This record gives sequence, structure tokens and C-alpha cells, in this order.
Amino acid sequence: MKTFTRPGFKVRLRPIRADDIDHIMAWINDPEVTKNFANMSERITREQEIAWLEWVMASDNDRLYAVEDLEGRYLGNAGIHKIYWPARNGRLGLVLGAADARGRGLGTQAMKLLVALAFEELGLHKTWLVHYKTNERMAHIATKLGFTTEGVLRDEYFHAQSFHDMVRWSLLEDELSW
Ligand SMILES: CC(C)(COP(=O)(O)OP(=O)(O)OC[C@H]1O[C@@H](n2cnc3c(N)ncnc32)[C@H](O)[C@@H]1OP(=O)(O)O)[C@@H](O)C(=O)NCCC(=O)NCCS
Repeated sequence: MKTFTRPGFKVRLRPIRADDIDHIMAWINDPEVTKNFANMSERITREQEIAWLEWVMASDNDRLYAVEDLEGRYLGNAGIHKIYWPARNGRLGLVLGAADARGRGLGTQAMKLLVALAFEELGLHKTWLVHYKTNERMAHIATKLGFTTEGVLRDEYFHAQSFHDMVRWSLLEDELSW
């Protein structure tokens, strides 16, 4: 794994490190973030997060990066998960932890980099993602980047005392347009 970016981009993806834990703990229990992820319904302790980081860094089926700006400031996590090597597909995950990093176009750039990395560095054929149906920002980004909707997963997640529909999207390697 190595750092990945493109000319003109304001962010880059670099392999996650164990010492990113302080940055991660700053957002991992922030309701503005956790409301977007079903697996963050319960409060996550530092020990749990360290264990998860160790697991993910050792995993053959996951690749986790830090999103950072060009000064090296940590902004969030970007990952390709559940990689199924026989069919060369993987699930994309992205979070910009700091509130002041969101809404400035950086998430769109990070997602573009993540997808390009998945196809060009990992040799994947297909990338996919799911988000809460109510996450209009993520839906907008997926549409803008040329993803196709694969369907709505009805009542797929249970979070904050209710069921939630999820939307699944995908982009194939020959659909990359940047
Ligand atoms: C989702 C996330 C990664 C997006 O990154 P970001 O930097 O905030 O997003 P950007 O500024 O690059 O782009 C947001 C786009 O959505 C649009 N948008 C924002 N709110 C919107 C809404 N309610 N409806 C439709 N579009 C919306 C913006 O106008 C912008 O589009 P534009 O560039 O065409 O104008 C970031 O907000 C985040 O980490 N959120 C919390 C975690 C999360 O939701 N992760 C994804 C889970 S699958």
C-alpha cells in the first residue's frame, strides 16, 4: 500500500497507521457521523477501535487509508472493504471526521481517488457502496461520479430504535470517467 493522489486534487489517500487512533477517536462517536453507519450504533471505546484497526490492517480483504490534505492534516478514513478477490469487487467506505472538512468538495475528491485506487492499484472490477436512503449527500456524490443504483435494501439496518432502508450503488472498472 502506498499514498495515492492525482494532480490538482486537494486530498490524498495514505495507508492508515496505528497512530491515527487519536484522530479517529475525535469523530468515532460523533452523532453527526455515526447516524450514517449502522455498525456505529453503540459507543465505541478506544480499545475496541485499536483492536479493529489492528484487524483491518492485517486483513487480506480490506484496505484502509487516511484522507489527508496536502499539508498532511488527517481529515478522515477511506476504505475498500469486504474485497471478494474471485470476482474482484469491494465495498467503499468514506468518512470525513472533522466537521470543517465536510461540504467543501473534499469528500467527492476522496471518493474519486478511492475508486481510481480500487481499479488501478488493486485491480478490482467492481466497487459498490451502501448508504442510508436519507443520506442525500452521499446519493448526490454517487450520482455525480456515475454510479448506478442497484436497488433499495428495505429495513436493512436497525439504528436508533428504528429500521432503515439502504441504497446500494456500484461502479464498474470501465465506467471510471476521471
Ligand atoms: C459523505 C461525505 C464523505 C461527503 O463528503 P463532503 O466533503 O461533505 O461532500 P462534498 O462537499 O464533496 O460534496 C457534497 C455534494 O453533495 C451535495 N449535497 C449536500 N447536501 C445535499 C443534500 N441534502 N441533497 C443533495 N445534495 C446535497 C453538495 O451540494 C455537493 O454537491 P456539489 O459538489 O455537486 O455541489 C461527508 O459529508 C461525511 O463524511 N459525512 C459523514 C459520514 C457519511 O455520511 N459517510 C458516507 C456513508 S456511506
